[in-house]
Order: sequence, then C-alpha cells, then structure tokens
Amino acid sequence: MTKVTDGFSKDFLWGGATAANQIEGAYNLGGKGLSTSDFAAFKDPYATGKVNNFTFDVTSEELAKYSERPEDYLFPKRWGIDFYHRYKEDIALFAEMGFKVFRLSISWARIFPTGLEDRPNEEGLAFYDKVFDECEKYGIEPLVTMSHYEMPIELTKRYNGWVSRELVALFEKYARVLFDRYKGKVKYWITFNEMNMNLNSLYTGAGVLADKVENSLQAAYQASHHQFLASALAVKAAREISPDAKIGCMINQIESYAKTTKPEDQLQAVKAEQLNMFYPDVKVRGSYPSYMVRYFNEQGIQLNTLEGDDVILAEGTVDYVAFSYYMSHVTEYRPDAMKLAGTFDSPIKNEYLELSEWDWPIDPVGLRISLNKLYDRYQVPLFLVENGLGAKDVLTEDKKIHDEYRIDYIRKHIIEMKEAVKDGVELMGYTTWGCIDLISCGTSQMSKRYGFIYVDQDDKGNGTLERIRKDSFYWYKDVISTNGEKL
Ligand code: BG6
Repeated sequence: MTKVTDGFSKDFLWGGATAANQIEGAYNLGGKGLSTSDFAAFKDPYATGKVNNFTFDVTSEELAKYSERPEDYLFPKRWGIDFYHRYKEDIALFAEMGFKVFRLSISWARIFPTGLEDRPNEEGLAFYDKVFDECEKYGIEPLVTMSHYEMPIELTKRYNGWVSRELVALFEKYARVLFDRYKGKVKYWITFNEMNMNLNSLYTGAGVLADKVENSLQAAYQASHHQFLASALAVKAAREISPDAKIGCMINQIESYAKTTKPEDQLQAVKAEQLNMFYPDVKVRGSYPSYMVRYFNEQGIQLNTLEGDDVILAEGTVDYVAFSYYMSHVTEYRPDAMKLAGTFDSPIKNEYLELSEWDWPIDPVGLRISLNKLYDRYQVPLFLVENGLGAKDVLTEDKKIHDEYRIDYIRKHIIEMKEAVKDGVELMGYTTWGCIDLISCGTSQMSKRYGFIYVDQDDKGNGTLERIRKDSFYWYKDVISTNGEKL
C-alpha cells in the first residue's frame, strides 16, 4: 500500500527566494553589461492613483529615451538592495533563520555582458562563486534560476529578444558555462522563471519590444518555443557536465475557478488552466500537448520550428516542477475569452477572498488545490519556490516591524501546504518570496515589501540600507527549527 505521511519530510528544504535584478544592484560593476531590467523605469504608482500599476513593459520609444538620457529617470533595479556588496551579511541572516535553501538567480549580463562574447566575464563568475561559498559555510543549498526576468539588453536591441532563434544557442553557451563552473556547488537549478508570464509581459519574460512585432500573442508563443528549446538543451548539457544536478521548470501557478456551475464556465476554467499547464506539459512530458495545437490553429498562430525540435524537447525533460503561488482567479465563458489568453486576464472578484494591499486575492486553500492538481498531473516532485505577501511595513521608533499580517498569510499557506503533503504530494521545499525586502518586479517599488528582513530604503533609493529583523523573522525561524510544527 502507498504510505501516508503526516508532515514535512526530514530533509524538507525551507528557505527564501530572490532574483538578481531585484537585489544585486551594482548594475555596472564587475564587468556586468546592461540588462533588460536595468531599463524598467519607476513610474510612481501612487501618482497614478492605481497602486497595482504594473510597469514592467518597455516600448522601443521608451528604450531609446532611457538609453539616451538615463539621468532623467529612476531605475530601481539598477540599485536593488546592494546585495552585491552585502551578500555576506544577508546570507548570515538567512542562516540565523535556519535556511536550508536560498533561491537566487544569476544575471546573464554579469556572465556574458552582451550575450555575444565567446568567453565569459571572469569577475561575474567569481562573484557567484563567493556567494555559493558563503552559502556552503552555513550548509545552505543554493537554488539557482538561470534566467529570472532579465537578459543582456544587447539581445533585445539586436534580435528583439526571444522571438529570434539566435538566442537558443547563446543561452546554451551561457548554461554550459554555469554548469561547468558551479558543478559541485549548485545542485538545484531552474532554467527560466515563470515562462507562462510571457503572455503578460513580453519584455520582462522574453526581452521582446511588443511594438516591434505584428502579433504579440504569436510573438509570445514563438519566444516560448525558443525558450523551451533553450531549456531542453540546458537540461541536456547539465546531464553531461553535472550529472547530479536537478533541473526544474517553473510557472506562475494561478488557480482558476469557474464563476458558476454552468458547464461553459467550468470548461473555460479548464481551458484557462491548460494555458498555464502548457508550460510544464512541454517541459515534463517533452512534447506539445494537442489542446495547444488546436488553440494555435484557432488563433491563427503559426510557429516557426525546425526539423529536430521535437527531438530536442523530448530529450530535455526536467526533474521537478517548481512554481510560484500568490493567488487564484475566477474565470467565465465569453466568446472572446480564449483570445485574451494569459493568467492576469480580466480577473473577476471572488467574494470569498480578501485582497492584499495590491489587490491580489489571498487564497491559501487554492494552494492545496494547486499542489494536488500539479502532482496528480505530473507525478514528479514539486517545489514551491515563491509565495508571500507584498505589504507596506511600518518601522517603529524603537526599530521594530510588527508584521502579524505577513505571519498570518504565510502561516495559512504553510498549513495548506502541509495538508497537501498529507494528501500525498511530494514536495521538495518552500522558499518564500522576497525573504529580504527587495525591489518589486511588477511596480519597481521598494515599498511593496515581502521580507522577514526589513531594508531601510524608499522607492526612490534613499536610505541607509540597514537590515532589520521583523517579527516574522523570529516566527519563521521557529517554523524551520520545528520543521513546520510550530506555526
Ligand atoms: C513573481 C516574480 O511573479 O512575483 C518575482 O517571479 C516577483 O520576480 C514576484 O517579484 C512578486 O511580484 P511583485 O510585482 O510584487 O514584485
């Protein structure tokens, strides 16, 4: 009989997650080239009156303006939280909380400044060596994303990003350098962060200037096809160079509920889910699912592919499915529903759920549903690599942050995660998003804070950068030391 477990495994990987462009800063130091995220200008969301104002897309006109007169704009992802110089202090704080794993990403432009060089930038490689050595000092496993919402800007300027097939070989070269250099130091890898978000921001996910393509839906899937190939070739390279490495794919999992019990709404929820599952379907099973082929035909999408692509995909399947989980959505049937593909598509309010300060529906039970569905579908280990609450924190005069709301959010999600484990889901670990306050991806704000560690800096980059332990810091430390028993 199948064994039933009553909690997290002894080797469960507790920790936190970050991304290079949201923490490192030092955007022009150590030989780093400029990346796409260095051109995500701050457009004050408070000024527009709409707090959840995603600013992550960049047009060709904006890119030209930002390149000509950078001094006229603020680019928060250029300064991050200065992890580049403070990684020792930050990793020591993670160790104090008892982290078993630290998710970070490597900036492609630190290793290949334009993406086109034949040889990697030694200073960039050496920086990550130091970071991994520091992790090792405390017994923390690095979990490394190779491409988290950034790439050398030269690849956007020259090729318009991932719509071009040229990037496949350039990424494979980059991947080979990483596996070669860090074998023995890094066991857990993710090739691309949240590939399904290509549908929401072509620039952020794929370095594509949307005004330079005729049909952005076609471009999103063409870019995705190239990333599938690059990811599969990277997996193949890892098997050769670093056979112990475990490589995962990653999506932004947004649980889709039907608005009513009307069968058409239920079917719409299934279709919305397929648009998300398409990504792990290809990466775990190694081929395009038939529902997607039908979808492409109906939407008039024709992908440019080459003979042999099928073989590449089939030979580069992943070991585990990683995902982020922040919210669920409600969907209903409309004649145009499938045209407006994508996970942030017209969310309908769920009357049973509260919203975060940034209007994200909070749904811990949805996490249990997602975990069960993903595991039922793939039967490979899962890794929850992002989850957390973006909130405004208040620093008291005696330098404390009483973030009970964050504890409450994470506690409820861990409870459901544990229930899913008891349901039989094989879960490798949990890394909360933004374990240290960082620059928001969607809004480039600092004031949207996720961390257990407060960083003294405002939206415009003013502050001492001092690190301060929040109440949630001590709470999460207990969670880890009791392996999720004391919540
Ligand atoms: C995830 C991204 O989708 O959401 C992260 O992988 C991002 O990079 C996180 O920071 C939270 O989004 P935001 O916009 O609140 O920073």
